[in-house]
Amino acid sequence: MRIILVGPPGAGKGTQAEKIVAKYNVAHISTGDILRANVKAGTELGKKAKSFMDAGALVPDDVIVGMMRGRLAEDDCKNGFILDGFPRTVPQAEALDSLLAEMGIKLDGVILLDVDDDTVVERLCGRRMCKKCGRIFHVSFKPSSKGDLCDECGGELYQRDDDKEEVIRQRLAVYHSQTAPLVDYYGKAGLLLRVPGAEAGDKVLGHIEAMLGSRA
Ligand code: AP5
Ligand code: MG
Repeated sequence: MRIILVGPPGAGKGTQAEKIVAKYNVAHISTGDILRANVKAGTELGKKAKSFMDAGALVPDDVIVGMMRGRLAEDDCKNGFILDGFPRTVPQAEALDSLLAEMGIKLDGVILLDVDDDTVVERLCGRRMCKKCGRIFHVSFKPSSKGDLCDECGGELYQRDDDKEEVIRQRLAVYHSQTAPLVDYYGKAGLLLRVPGAEAGDKVLGHIEAMLGSRA
């Protein structure tokens, strides 16, 4: 399985990727997670990316494409992958097309998680993440049974720096202007699968599996 998850911030890309990875043995590649790990570790890449991320802007295409070229060549991608948050501009999608062509690989589909802006804000204001294992929670929709600790690994839960309402609004604006054109791009390529992302998490997974199954 080689798929892309596209959707606005808070659409549930990370949540669905967790579910898919638990069922199918494929690599989960989230550019946001890779960037946050680099910010935390204080690498050169992290230093470059931080100001863009804090402002809700996109990290420049050349930085992201360079990073993904290396990541897609890693061994765990041989069995398939889910790209979460990449590509998110047309130039990134074109660069990915060239990379995959070089590797002799084809995509199975591009899943668009369709979610309205109000749902995004509600989801992101209540999101909590585990510091240790990265698991995703929500104070109302998916609370941890251990309160402020992860019910999977016991790690501390935290709120992402970019999950403040004004930054969320900016991330949404960036999505509509720079990422939404991918809907057309992958629609024309015959790869786009539109999923109603505002439904409950397991229902969304059911839609994804049905759509992928119908293409197999
Ligand atoms: P990134 O980390 O990718 O953030 P994002 O795209 O804004 O998406 P999120 O991670 O916020 O949301 P999600 O769709 O994963 O939702 P989740 O599953 O967590 O990127 C961060 C930043 O890095 C960018 O702003 C940019 O600066 C930079 N960056 C990253 N990639 C880049 C690229 N390719 N190019 C340039 N810059 C890049 O769910 C959200 C919440 O909703 C959770 O609390 C969850 O529990 C809840 N939830 C999920 N599904 C449901 C459901 N069905 N019902 C109820 N609640 C739900
Ligand atoms: Mg995410």
